Amino acid sequence: MTNLYKSVPIRSSEITPKHEYLSRRDFMKAASLAAGAAFLTACAPSATEEPQNAEPGPTSGATDELGDPVNTYEDITHYNNYYEFTVDKQGVAGLAQDFTTNPWTIEVGGLVNKPKTFAIEDILKLFPQEERIYRLRCVEAWSMVIPWTGFSLASLLEMVEPTSDAKYVRFETVYRPEEMRGQKSPFYTWPYQEGLRIDEAMNELALLATGIYGETILPQNGAPIRLVVPWKYGFKSIKSIVKIELVSEQPATLWNNAGPNEYGFYANVNPGVDHPRWSQATERRIGEISRRGTLPFNGYGEQVRHLYEGMDLSVNY
Ligand code: MTE
Repeated sequence: MTNLYKSVPIRSSEITPKHEYLSRRDFMKAASLAAGAAFLTACAPSATEEPQNAEPGPTSGATDELGDPVNTYEDITHYNNYYEFTVDKQGVAGLAQDFTTNPWTIEVGGLVNKPKTFAIEDILKLFPQEERIYRLRCVEAWSMVIPWTGFSLASLLEMVEPTSDAKYVRFETVYRPEEMRGQKSPFYTWPYQEGLRIDEAMNELALLATGIYGETILPQNGAPIRLVVPWKYGFKSIKSIVKIELVSEQPATLWNNAGPNEYGFYANVNPGVDHPRWSQATERRIGEISRRGTLPFNGYGEQVRHLYEGMDLSVNY
Protein backbone atom coordinates (compact mmCIF):
# COMPACT_ATOMS: atom_id res chain seq x y z
CA MET A 1 0.00 0.00 0.00
CA THR A 2 1.05 3.53 -0.61
CA ASN A 3 3.24 5.15 1.99
CA LEU A 4 1.86 8.54 1.08
CA TYR A 5 1.13 9.80 4.49
CA LYS A 6 4.20 9.03 6.49
CA SER A 7 4.25 11.24 9.53
CA VAL A 8 6.56 14.22 9.61
CA PRO A 9 6.94 16.22 12.83
CA ILE A 10 5.01 19.46 12.77
CA ARG A 11 6.93 22.57 13.58
CA SER A 12 5.30 24.77 16.17
CA SER A 13 4.47 28.13 14.73
CA GLU A 14 3.05 31.39 15.79
CA ILE A 15 -0.05 33.07 14.60
CA THR A 16 0.84 36.46 13.24
CA PRO A 17 -0.63 39.16 15.46
CA LYS A 18 -3.47 41.07 13.92
CA HIS A 19 -1.67 44.40 13.94
CA GLU A 20 0.96 43.04 11.58
CA TYR A 21 -1.57 42.20 8.96
CA LEU A 22 -1.80 45.48 7.16
CA SER A 23 -0.37 44.68 3.76
CA ARG A 24 0.21 46.47 0.53
CA ARG A 25 -3.27 45.44 -0.58
CA ASP A 26 -4.79 46.82 2.59
CA PHE A 27 -3.11 50.06 1.76
CA MET A 28 -4.34 49.95 -1.81
CA LYS A 29 -7.85 49.12 -0.65
CA ALA A 30 -7.77 51.85 1.92
CA ALA A 31 -6.49 54.21 -0.73
CA SER A 32 -9.22 53.41 -3.21
CA LEU A 33 -11.91 53.65 -0.54
CA ALA A 34 -10.42 56.96 0.39
CA ALA A 35 -10.47 58.09 -3.22
CA GLY A 36 -14.24 57.65 -3.14
CA ALA A 37 -14.48 59.69 0.04
CA ALA A 38 -12.29 62.70 -0.58
CA PHE A 39 -12.07 63.69 3.07
CA LEU A 40 -10.19 60.50 3.86
CA THR A 41 -7.63 60.76 1.11
CA ALA A 42 -5.03 62.49 3.17
CA CYS A 43 -5.21 59.76 5.80
CA ALA A 44 -4.70 56.84 3.43
CA PRO A 45 -1.23 55.45 3.97
CA SER A 46 0.81 55.12 0.81
CA ALA A 47 2.08 51.84 -0.50
CA THR A 48 5.63 52.93 0.21
CA GLU A 49 4.88 52.75 3.92
CA GLU A 50 4.64 49.00 3.75
CA PRO A 51 7.11 47.54 6.23
CA GLN A 52 9.91 45.61 4.54
CA ASN A 53 10.15 41.87 5.15
CA ALA A 54 6.73 41.82 6.80
CA GLU A 55 4.73 38.66 6.33
CA PRO A 56 2.10 39.25 3.64
CA GLY A 57 -1.22 39.96 5.29
CA PRO A 58 -4.78 39.03 4.37
CA THR A 59 -6.91 41.96 3.39
CA SER A 60 -10.23 41.21 4.96
CA GLY A 61 -9.56 40.29 8.55
CA ALA A 62 -7.52 37.62 10.13
CA THR A 63 -10.06 34.90 10.81
CA ASP A 64 -12.38 32.61 8.92
CA GLU A 65 -16.14 32.78 9.44
CA LEU A 66 -15.85 30.51 12.49
CA GLY A 67 -13.42 32.92 14.11
CA ASP A 68 -10.36 30.74 13.52
CA PRO A 69 -7.17 32.70 12.82
CA VAL A 70 -5.39 32.24 9.51
CA ASN A 71 -2.17 30.25 9.57
CA THR A 72 1.11 32.04 9.03
CA TYR A 73 2.43 32.59 5.52
CA GLU A 74 5.51 30.63 6.56
CA ASP A 75 3.49 27.55 7.50
CA ILE A 76 1.21 27.74 4.47
CA THR A 77 4.21 27.94 2.14
CA HIS A 78 6.51 25.48 3.93
CA TYR A 79 4.27 22.60 4.98
CA ASN A 80 2.93 21.21 1.74
CA ASN A 81 1.72 18.11 0.03
CA TYR A 82 2.93 18.07 -3.54
CA TYR A 83 3.99 14.58 -4.53
CA GLU A 84 5.29 15.70 -7.92
CA PHE A 85 8.21 17.22 -6.00
CA THR A 86 8.61 15.11 -2.87
CA VAL A 87 6.63 13.35 -0.17
CA ASP A 88 8.53 15.41 2.43
CA LYS A 89 6.20 18.26 3.33
CA GLN A 90 8.99 20.54 4.46
CA GLY A 91 11.02 19.79 1.34
CA VAL A 92 8.48 20.86 -1.25
CA ALA A 93 9.17 24.61 -1.09
CA GLY A 94 12.88 24.23 -1.85
CA LEU A 95 12.44 21.72 -4.67
CA ALA A 96 9.62 23.70 -6.29
CA GLN A 97 11.22 27.12 -6.25
CA ASP A 98 12.47 27.05 -9.86
CA PHE A 99 9.34 25.44 -11.27
CA THR A 100 8.34 27.21 -14.51
CA THR A 101 4.89 28.78 -14.21
CA ASN A 102 5.14 31.23 -17.11
CA PRO A 103 4.05 30.78 -19.86
CA TRP A 104 1.05 28.73 -18.70
CA THR A 105 -2.20 27.79 -20.38
CA ILE A 106 -5.27 25.89 -19.24
CA GLU A 107 -7.27 23.99 -21.79
CA VAL A 108 -10.99 23.80 -20.96
CA GLY A 109 -12.91 21.43 -23.19
CA GLY A 110 -14.73 18.14 -23.52
CA LEU A 111 -18.54 18.27 -23.44
CA VAL A 112 -18.86 22.03 -23.89
CA ASN A 113 -20.19 24.34 -26.61
CA LYS A 114 -17.29 26.78 -26.44
CA PRO A 115 -13.98 25.06 -25.68
CA LYS A 116 -11.25 27.55 -24.89
CA THR A 117 -7.59 27.59 -23.99
CA PHE A 118 -6.82 30.35 -21.52
CA ALA A 119 -3.43 31.91 -20.92
CA ILE A 120 -2.94 32.52 -17.22
CA GLU A 121 -2.67 36.30 -17.73
CA ASP A 122 -6.07 36.29 -19.49
CA ILE A 123 -7.62 34.36 -16.61
CA LEU A 124 -6.46 37.06 -14.24
CA LYS A 125 -8.05 39.72 -16.45
CA LEU A 126 -11.29 37.88 -17.24
CA PHE A 127 -12.21 36.77 -13.72
CA PRO A 128 -12.04 39.35 -10.94
CA GLN A 129 -10.00 37.95 -8.08
CA GLU A 130 -11.49 37.99 -4.60
CA GLU A 131 -10.17 36.95 -1.22
CA ARG A 132 -11.68 33.94 0.55
CA ILE A 133 -10.47 32.54 3.83
CA TYR A 134 -11.03 28.77 3.83
CA ARG A 135 -10.08 25.91 6.10
CA LEU A 136 -8.11 23.15 4.36
CA ARG A 137 -8.49 19.77 6.07
CA CYS A 138 -5.98 17.22 4.85
CA VAL A 139 -6.93 13.54 4.83
CA GLU A 140 -3.89 13.00 7.08
CA ALA A 141 -5.85 14.76 9.86
CA TRP A 142 -4.08 18.12 9.93
CA SER A 143 -5.61 21.41 8.87
CA MET A 144 -4.85 25.04 8.14
CA VAL A 145 -6.77 28.24 7.57
CA ILE A 146 -5.65 29.89 4.35
CA PRO A 147 -6.47 33.32 2.89
CA TRP A 148 -6.77 32.53 -0.82
CA THR A 149 -7.33 34.86 -3.71
CA GLY A 150 -9.12 33.48 -6.69
CA PHE A 151 -12.49 33.15 -8.37
CA SER A 152 -15.35 30.67 -8.55
CA LEU A 153 -14.76 27.61 -10.69
CA ALA A 154 -18.41 28.03 -11.76
CA SER A 155 -17.66 31.30 -13.55
CA LEU A 156 -15.01 29.61 -15.72
CA LEU A 157 -17.26 26.64 -16.47
CA GLU A 158 -20.18 28.89 -17.40
CA MET A 159 -17.98 30.64 -19.94
CA VAL A 160 -17.38 27.42 -21.91
CA GLU A 161 -21.06 26.35 -21.71
CA PRO A 162 -21.15 22.69 -20.62
CA THR A 163 -23.61 20.58 -22.65
CA SER A 164 -26.39 18.59 -20.97
CA ASP A 165 -24.24 15.43 -21.32
CA ALA A 166 -21.56 16.89 -19.04
CA LYS A 167 -21.96 15.20 -15.63
CA TYR A 168 -18.45 15.45 -14.18
CA VAL A 169 -15.45 17.74 -14.36
CA ARG A 170 -11.99 16.26 -14.68
CA PHE A 171 -8.82 18.19 -13.74
CA GLU A 172 -5.23 17.46 -14.67
CA THR A 173 -1.92 18.77 -13.29
CA VAL A 174 0.97 19.54 -15.63
CA TYR A 175 3.18 16.55 -16.53
CA ARG A 176 6.78 17.67 -16.54
CA PRO A 177 9.01 14.98 -15.00
CA GLU A 178 12.19 16.88 -15.91
CA GLU A 179 11.11 19.60 -13.46
CA MET A 180 9.05 17.45 -11.11
CA ARG A 181 11.16 14.50 -10.13
CA GLY A 182 8.36 12.87 -8.13
CA GLN A 183 6.61 12.17 -11.44
CA LYS A 184 9.28 9.57 -12.11
CA SER A 185 7.84 7.48 -9.28
CA PRO A 186 6.15 4.38 -10.69
CA PHE A 187 3.75 4.17 -7.74
CA TYR A 188 1.28 6.74 -9.02
CA THR A 189 -0.67 7.25 -12.22
CA TRP A 190 0.75 10.57 -13.41
CA PRO A 191 -0.26 13.20 -14.22
CA TYR A 192 -2.20 13.93 -11.00
CA GLN A 193 -5.89 13.88 -11.84
CA GLU A 194 -8.95 14.81 -9.85
CA GLY A 195 -12.66 15.12 -10.45
CA LEU A 196 -15.90 16.60 -9.19
CA ARG A 197 -19.53 15.98 -10.02
CA ILE A 198 -20.77 18.94 -12.04
CA ASP A 199 -23.11 20.22 -9.33
CA GLU A 200 -20.21 20.14 -6.86
CA ALA A 201 -18.04 22.02 -9.34
CA MET A 202 -20.77 24.63 -9.80
CA ASN A 203 -21.12 25.22 -6.05
CA GLU A 204 -20.08 28.75 -5.20
CA LEU A 205 -17.51 27.54 -2.65
CA ALA A 206 -15.37 25.75 -5.25
CA LEU A 207 -12.51 28.12 -5.97
CA LEU A 208 -9.74 28.40 -8.52
CA ALA A 209 -6.96 30.02 -6.52
CA THR A 210 -4.17 32.17 -7.93
CA GLY A 211 -2.97 33.84 -4.73
CA ILE A 212 -2.37 33.43 -1.00
CA TYR A 213 -2.20 36.32 1.47
CA GLY A 214 -2.75 38.68 -1.45
CA GLU A 215 0.49 37.53 -3.09
CA THR A 216 0.83 35.50 -6.28
CA ILE A 217 0.57 31.84 -5.35
CA LEU A 218 3.95 30.12 -5.00
CA PRO A 219 4.91 26.90 -6.81
CA GLN A 220 4.69 24.79 -3.65
CA ASN A 221 1.03 25.77 -3.23
CA GLY A 222 0.11 24.98 -6.84
CA ALA A 223 1.14 27.95 -8.98
CA PRO A 224 -0.06 29.42 -11.13
CA ILE A 225 -3.58 28.09 -10.55
CA ARG A 226 -5.04 25.35 -8.37
CA LEU A 227 -8.41 24.14 -7.21
CA VAL A 228 -9.67 24.61 -3.63
CA VAL A 229 -12.69 22.54 -2.54
CA PRO A 230 -12.94 23.39 1.15
CA TRP A 231 -15.56 20.84 2.20
CA LYS A 232 -13.48 17.93 0.88
CA TYR A 233 -10.18 16.42 1.99
CA GLY A 234 -7.22 18.38 0.67
CA PHE A 235 -6.24 15.84 -1.98
CA LYS A 236 -9.24 16.94 -4.09
CA SER A 237 -7.68 20.42 -4.31
CA ILE A 238 -5.46 19.71 -7.30
CA LYS A 239 -2.49 21.96 -7.98
CA SER A 240 -0.92 23.50 -11.11
CA ILE A 241 -3.82 22.70 -13.43
CA VAL A 242 -3.31 22.59 -17.21
CA LYS A 243 -6.49 20.85 -18.29
CA ILE A 244 -10.16 20.91 -17.29
CA GLU A 245 -12.46 18.56 -19.14
CA LEU A 246 -16.23 18.14 -18.94
CA VAL A 247 -17.06 14.44 -19.18
CA SER A 248 -20.07 12.13 -18.91
CA GLU A 249 -18.57 9.46 -16.62
CA GLN A 250 -17.00 9.69 -13.18
CA PRO A 251 -13.29 10.24 -13.92
CA ALA A 252 -10.43 8.20 -12.46
CA THR A 253 -8.32 10.04 -9.87
CA LEU A 254 -4.70 9.54 -8.80
CA TRP A 255 -5.50 8.75 -5.17
CA ASN A 256 -8.43 6.54 -5.96
CA ASN A 257 -6.19 4.58 -8.36
CA ALA A 258 -3.51 4.35 -5.66
CA GLY A 259 -5.81 3.12 -2.87
CA PRO A 260 -9.49 2.72 -3.79
CA ASN A 261 -10.56 1.66 -0.30
CA GLU A 262 -8.68 4.56 1.31
CA TYR A 263 -9.38 7.49 -1.00
CA GLY A 264 -12.87 7.66 -2.40
CA PHE A 265 -14.08 9.85 -5.24
CA TYR A 266 -16.27 12.03 -3.02
CA ALA A 267 -13.78 12.55 -0.19
CA ASN A 268 -16.10 14.80 1.79
CA VAL A 269 -14.64 15.66 5.19
CA ASN A 270 -16.48 13.29 7.51
CA PRO A 271 -15.55 12.76 11.17
CA GLY A 272 -17.89 9.73 11.24
CA VAL A 273 -16.03 7.73 8.60
CA ASP A 274 -12.49 6.79 9.53
CA HIS A 275 -9.69 6.26 7.10
CA PRO A 276 -8.89 2.52 7.27
CA ARG A 277 -5.59 3.35 9.00
CA TRP A 278 -6.52 6.28 11.25
CA SER A 279 -9.42 8.18 12.77
CA GLN A 280 -10.92 11.19 11.06
CA ALA A 281 -12.77 12.33 14.20
CA THR A 282 -10.17 14.92 15.18
CA GLU A 283 -7.50 16.97 13.50
CA ARG A 284 -4.39 18.93 14.34
CA ARG A 285 -4.58 22.56 13.29
CA ILE A 286 -1.04 23.50 12.30
CA GLY A 287 0.23 25.94 14.92
CA GLU A 288 -1.94 24.54 17.73
CA ILE A 289 -1.03 22.02 20.39
CA SER A 290 -4.24 20.26 21.24
CA ARG A 291 -6.32 18.49 18.65
CA ARG A 292 -9.74 19.79 17.69
CA GLY A 293 -12.86 17.96 16.62
CA THR A 294 -13.38 17.65 12.87
CA LEU A 295 -16.58 19.18 11.54
CA PRO A 296 -18.76 17.40 8.95
CA PHE A 297 -18.03 18.85 5.52
CA ASN A 298 -15.19 20.73 7.25
CA GLY A 299 -17.78 23.15 8.65
CA TYR A 300 -19.34 24.00 5.27
CA GLY A 301 -22.37 21.71 5.63
CA GLU A 302 -24.93 24.46 5.27
CA GLN A 303 -23.65 25.32 1.81
CA VAL A 304 -23.12 21.78 0.48
CA ARG A 305 -25.14 19.19 2.43
CA HIS A 306 -27.96 19.32 -0.12
CA LEU A 307 -25.62 18.00 -2.83
CA TYR A 308 -25.57 14.60 -1.12
CA GLU A 309 -29.21 14.15 -0.14
CA GLY A 310 -30.20 10.49 -0.28
CA MET A 311 -26.59 9.30 -0.57
CA ASP A 312 -24.99 7.05 2.01
CA LEU A 313 -21.77 8.92 2.74
CA SER A 314 -20.15 5.95 4.41
CA VAL A 315 -20.42 4.08 1.12
CA ASN A 316 -19.70 7.13 -1.03
CA TYR A 317 -16.67 8.18 1.03
N1 MTE B 1 -2.06 18.45 -6.24
C1 MTE B 1 -1.04 17.85 -6.88
N2 MTE B 1 -0.91 18.05 -8.22
N3 MTE B 1 -0.16 17.03 -6.26
C2 MTE B 1 -0.28 16.75 -4.92
O1 MTE B 1 0.53 15.97 -4.37
N4 MTE B 1 -1.57 17.13 -2.85
C3 MTE B 1 -2.93 17.35 -2.35
C4 MTE B 1 -3.48 18.70 -2.83
N5 MTE B 1 -3.22 18.90 -4.24
C5 MTE B 1 -1.36 17.37 -4.19
C6 MTE B 1 -2.21 18.25 -4.90
C7 MTE B 1 -3.03 17.27 -0.90
S1 MTE B 1 -2.97 15.70 -0.22
C8 MTE B 1 -3.23 18.37 -0.11
S2 MTE B 1 -3.51 18.21 1.56
C9 MTE B 1 -3.19 19.72 -0.68
O2 MTE B 1 -2.85 19.73 -2.07
C10 MTE B 1 -2.15 20.55 0.06
O3 MTE B 1 -2.14 21.87 -0.41
P1 MTE B 1 -1.10 22.91 0.21
O4 MTE B 1 0.27 22.30 0.12
O5 MTE B 1 -1.23 24.16 -0.61
O6 MTE B 1 -1.52 23.12 1.64
